[in-house]
Amino acid sequence: MKTTFSIIKADVGGWPGHALVHPDLEDIARKKLTDAKREKLLTDFHVTHCGDDLELVMTHKNGVDAKEVHSLAWDTFCEATERARDLGLYGAGQDLLVDAFSGNIKGMGPGVAEMEFTERKAEPIVTFMMDKTEPGAFNFPIFKMFADPFNTAGLVIDPSCHDGFVFEVWDIQEHKNVMLKTPEEMYDLLALIGAKSRFVIKRVFPKSSSKLPSNEPVSAISTEKLYQIAGEYVGKDDPVGIVRAQSGLPALGEVLEAFSLGHLVSGWMRGSHNGPLMPVALKDAQCTRFDGPPRVIALGFQLRNGLLTKPVDLFNDPAFDITRKKAQEVMDYMRRHGPFEPHRLPLADMEYTTLPKVMKKLGSRFKKVK
Ligand code: F6R
Ligand code: MG
Ligand code: MG
Repeated sequence: MKTTFSIIKADVGGWPGHALVHPDLEDIARKKLTDAKREKLLTDFHVTHCGDDLELVMTHKNGVDAKEVHSLAWDTFCEATERARDLGLYGAGQDLLVDAFSGNIKGMGPGVAEMEFTERKAEPIVTFMMDKTEPGAFNFPIFKMFADPFNTAGLVIDPSCHDGFVFEVWDIQEHKNVMLKTPEEMYDLLALIGAKSRFVIKRVFPKSSSKLPSNEPVSAISTEKLYQIAGEYVGKDDPVGIVRAQSGLPALGEVLEAFSLGHLVSGWMRGSHNGPLMPVALKDAQCTRFDGPPRVIALGFQLRNGLLTKPVDLFNDPAFDITRKKAQEVMDYMRRHGPFEPHRLPLADMEYTTLPKVMKKLGSRFKKVK
């Protein structure tokens, strides 16, 4: 029997500004998903937040892109928006870009990471949720987990990982995808995913030589680009990801190790700055300094017949203190650059820009250089 694991998330109001989700919104989501579990639409669920994003983790038997599950998430966000409006929260309904649900939540504002797979005897699964950054922020750690032998010892010393994995990469500008095998096509893969604002890892699959089914993903990432959907900037497309671990896949510790750099990502203040991605405990998943820095939480579950154990807050560990300290130093260093690149993003990647207005105002004052 296959299980579908879905994370659907949206920012439907910040408390205060873009810092955090108000607990009332999580309560509304819990109530709504409890009803859906009672009605057997969901097998299980967990509601949480990262920064100002309300996160719905759901398991069910309906497959990916299931209308009933997407509609449940949409209705949940709509109800939470009403409460956000009552409370006067900031940007209430920010990520709900259309008035009515049309069968699939993709392209309507919320972010979605979903995969359907046959559960193993024991199924460890890690959910990652980021705030103040974009889907390309997952390229570096997902590559490290599944393709870098300096991160994942299993690629070298575990015969069941040794053959490598297959990466599905999306070109989010041209709306195309390509499958690339590692280790043999690693350099081609890196040539693409290093350009993280355009090429994003969508899913990872086992190879056909694996004991796991090669058509069932072992990782999936949300790749919605809000500003492309809405045609103008309406909020950052803060991404979520799902990673299965152990027994022929990266071990839990190899999955987490991939976040030990505090790598640079785009987003942060006004979706227009580069900064370090800081792995934090849930209690610290609130964006403060310069609306950041960008943060990631990791909640780990064991899954059995679609039922979830209580989550473990995996970055709530002094083992990541050194990463956080480094991220804070890098944050401070980057901030000192103020409006200069590469702290501020290049013009094409900025979510806000006044340059056209400045150019218009200066207009005739520009003289030809001889
Ligand atoms: C970035 C983000 C915030 C806002 C910033 C300005 O993803 O959400 O940094 O961009 O606080 O917000 P507004 O324009 O709503 O005042
Ligand atoms: Mg917000
Ligand atoms: Mg957010």
